[in-house]
Amino acid sequence: MELPITLIGFMGCGKSTIGKQIAREKGMNFTDLDDYIQESSGESISNIFKHKGEKEFRNIESQCLREVLLIPDQVVALGGGTPCFLNNMEIIRTLSTSIYLQISPEGLTRRLIRSHNPRPLIRGKSKEELLEFINLELQKREEFYLQADYIIQSDQIQVDELLRLLFF
Ligand code: S3P
Repeated sequence: MELPITLIGFMGCGKSTIGKQIAREKGMNFTDLDDYIQESSGESISNIFKHKGEKEFRNIESQCLREVLLIPDQVVALGGGTPCFLNNMEIIRTLSTSIYLQISPEGLTRRLIRSHNPRPLIRGKSKEELLEFINLELQKREEFYLQADYIIQSDQIQVDELLRLLFF
């Protein structure tokens, strides 16, 4: 039995895509924490933000994180904000092997502009506003992200290269 592997990083950094590939490669299950939250609460992330507010979302997210990380042999893609609230990063560091996928603010902006995934925190932002938001948020969030066990600069990296760096 292996500790879960968690992928952390800003919205749009590729946590789910890369997480699924690592899971396939290692013969492990894959869990997306946002999906787990939606299934257990019966509400979409957007609706939780809209009806209950961000504070309550963070409580639900933290509770779900604690449940999910008790299951061994799986790869878990966390939400962009997960490591940065309550004492989640401590839990992540204790109960998983964590990987931070670090991407430049410009790279994240390009990816998020193309993404169709509804994300309440960046809804309706222009490209310029998005870049400004990412620059500001990353400054605060990297304090937590940089505590990961592994940090991978993943602007250009291919998955096979990532796997080689991490596991072989
Ligand atoms: C959030 C990121 C989202 C989701 C929620 C809040 C954040 O997950 O949990 O919209 O605070 O960065 P992704 O990083 O998977 O988009």
